[in-house]
Amino acid sequence: MTILMRQTDGRRLRLLTCHTTPPRIAAVSAPPAPAASGPASERLAARALAAIPGGVNSGARRFPGVDDVVIVSANGATFTDATGRSLVDYHAAYGPVILGHCDPDVGAAFMDAVSTVDLTGLGVTPYEIALAEKIQEHVPCAERVVLLCTGTEATFYAVRLARGVTGRRLLIKFQGCFHGGHDAVALNVISAADRVGTKDPLSTGILPEVIDATLVLPFNDLDAVRHAVAEHRGEVAAIILEPIPHNIGCVLPEQAFLEGLREVCDREGIVLIFDEVITGFRHGLGGYQAICGVTPDLASLGKAMANGFPIAALAGSADLMEQLSTVPGRPVMLAGTYNGHPGTAAAALATIEKMEREPVHDHIFRLGERVRTGLQSMFDRIGVEAYVTGLGSVWVSYFLSGPVRSYEDLLRNDADLYVGYRRRLVERGIFELPANLKRNHLSYAHTDAHVDELIDATEWAVLRELEQRGAR
Ligand SMILES: Cc1ncc(COP(=O)(O)O)c(C=O)c1O
Repeated sequence: MTILMRQTDGRRLRLLTCHTTPPRIAAVSAPPAPAASGPASERLAARALAAIPGGVNSGARRFPGVDDVVIVSANGATFTDATGRSLVDYHAAYGPVILGHCDPDVGAAFMDAVSTVDLTGLGVTPYEIALAEKIQEHVPCAERVVLLCTGTEATFYAVRLARGVTGRRLLIKFQGCFHGGHDAVALNVISAADRVGTKDPLSTGILPEVIDATLVLPFNDLDAVRHAVAEHRGEVAAIILEPIPHNIGCVLPEQAFLEGLREVCDREGIVLIFDEVITGFRHGLGGYQAICGVTPDLASLGKAMANGFPIAALAGSADLMEQLSTVPGRPVMLAGTYNGHPGTAAAALATIEKMEREPVHDHIFRLGERVRTGLQSMFDRIGVEAYVTGLGSVWVSYFLSGPVRSYEDLLRNDADLYVGYRRRLVERGIFELPANLKRNHLSYAHTDAHVDELIDATEWAVLRELEQRGAR
């Protein structure tokens, strides 16, 4: 038999031919136990770097000031690294963690499911049926639902479905919105000022014709949309947007913009896709579409749907969704080995049921309001120009004069202060991702005491940062 092996004398992989019985697989070593000392943590980070490119499994997990972090446990509002340092977490893993880390009800539901049934690759399980029904019940556009694993897959299939059904080529997206890593949408998120207004791909390796087929427009600018659609009449398959562009913090949509998009799409036969991977479940069980009253044709869901377990969904109108190849003979191919995994489906059900049963949204919305008003009045008192904004459990403090309608306005943000104060917060035991325009999230595990501490520590961190610049 032929097996792929690593040479002992080098890093290259080589195909070796083995004519004897295949080697027994060595016992898998247990994950490293939590270590309390700096050198032990450094050794783990070094092992990560030697085995994983960059030492992390996503291009968005390593930032200056918090590189080489090895996380060993998480609980409620905090996580702990291998040096023994615990941080109050407002990053929430980019948004999924809405109930708090390692929620016992969600964990128990997962364990219960996977000790009952796992993957068979045939048919459907009761967990998947119940979860799809739950999404139907809450999300206005969800006449039909398919369960996937990631938000990237959800927007990928949404775009394929729109193109497959309309037979059209073009996609419209907005500067500042992020929809995952696939080629059609991986462009123009946090662009440098001189790239705004041009195509700004997030990666090399994307075919130019794919980039050409995505038009990028300014958010909240209905005239720009009308103009582009008129210029390409009959060619636009879909308009995709985060109804609130949270990938650049929080730019609130104008109601007339969302209603105008619906009207343009209806008139021109264009599929309207709301990417609710962040807004879904975090801002309410029905997502932002239930709040704004504009119902898209398709919606992608993920993140807060399962409190951190990897599951996502594509939901939409029956006439579109029934064109997926999950219906025999239908033309738009959709498949996935792990789709609707019973364990993650059970975790999602438990998350949603807890949000139905307990005052999760009341709690996180109330704390969010306290954070926003508390921070704004603190900044006003100390004389720092800041625009604190957000919705529900999400907030950001931009250092600029408001208001903010689109990404273009955010080019005025003082990025050094935005990132600098966040790096200093770590010294106070608080974690906000130290990256420009990234948002913060509250969970059900945060308390009023956390909010008081946050406002106090933010004042300290911003003042230290300004002092260091000689601005105080
Ligand atoms: C709005 C939005 N859509 C899609 C995605 C992609 O989701 P995933 O990382 O689960 O593939 C993200 C991820 O951050 C997102 O914020």
